[in-house]
Amino acid sequence: MKIFLTRKIPDDGIKVLKNHEFQVDIFPENRQPTKEEIIKGVRDADALISLLSDPIDREVIDSARNLKVIGNYAVGYNNIDVEYARKKGIIVVNTPGVLTDATADLTFALILAAARRVVEGDRFMRDKKFRGWEPMLMLGKDVWGATIGIVGAGRIGQAVGRRARGFNMRILYHSRTRKMEFERETGARFVSLTELLRESDIITLHVPLTQETRHLIGEEEFKIIKEGAILINTARGEVVKEEAMIRALKSGKLFAAGLDVFYGEPNVNTELLSLPNVVLTPHVGSATERTRRKMAEMVCEDVSRVLLGREPLHRVV
Ligand code: NAP
Ligand code: GLV
Ligand code: GLV
Repeated sequence: MKIFLTRKIPDDGIKVLKNHEFQVDIFPENRQPTKEEIIKGVRDADALISLLSDPIDREVIDSARNLKVIGNYAVGYNNIDVEYARKKGIIVVNTPGVLTDATADLTFALILAAARRVVEGDRFMRDKKFRGWEPMLMLGKDVWGATIGIVGAGRIGQAVGRRARGFNMRILYHSRTRKMEFERETGARFVSLTELLRESDIITLHVPLTQETRHLIGEEEFKIIKEGAILINTARGEVVKEEAMIRALKSGKLFAAGLDVFYGEPNVNTELLSLPNVVLTPHVGSATERTRRKMAEMVCEDVSRVLLGREPLHRVV
């Protein structure tokens, strides 16, 4: 059986596939393959291991003659037409859980960097602008004791909540369903999205990208947001209406933003690049050595299970 990978992933995963004596076919170049290249690779493959940047749409799915399983090397799977895969009897698996803490850590890195102007300060130093300690130099916002609003209290959202407790924060959250255990553990309070936006000093997004969450934070929401709040997005760029966010960053309605994900990646709005109160990271939420190794093992083990006729452990559809 043949497995096509759209990019090289850590050896921990490849070893799993080779131990089962599957034929492993890896896209040979260190860049995103084009859709045509994905179609070519998947044509006679029994399994596909894709990245979140690979659009696995109807056309790709229809071009595959023997495909039994798609393993997304990510927890988010908005790049895959999962409904169509289901219809065609193709199983989809992903990598939940193993990247939760790494992504929550990066969320906190962005919170601290945005609130305390860490990146702006670094640039200031390199530009040789430092003239010594000043009473009013680069004043930021308090993180300790702030009110944090978590939008989407799933695995990552709750992990951010646990970290927030260590910073003595008041925790508000909005999700589709109440999380009693999370409330007991962290003292978090379940509120409407409107109340969360109105009350939070720091708003952090952890919903998956779906039809309901596309532009969840749009023009109307930016009107409600508290003056001087900080917005953190490590979910997906499309959850936020980008032009509205840029306006809020320019007017000072938002004090700052910390962004790991962007609208229409790999493109990044050039206006964002010119704003000093934005901290940008290149979609690296799960990018630690250990996490990426675990993700590789996880996706390859689950894909192998399907090919061997067993039920996968992390099935999306
Ligand atoms: P998860 O456990 O499924 O959590 C998502 C939460 O969002 C769920 O608790 C769900 O609520 C909530 N939700 C879904 N639709 C909603 C809506 N319309 N309104 C309010 N809440 C809604 O997923 P996760 O593992 O935490 O990952 C979350 C997302 O983070 C992924 O989908 C991915 O896009 C992103 N991510 C990014 C990085 C990165 O590198 N930056 C890394 C990992 C993940 P209920 O539980 O109440 O139904
Ligand atoms: C990363 O963004 C993921 O969804 O795993
Ligand atoms: C700052 O460095 C202080 O000592 O207050």
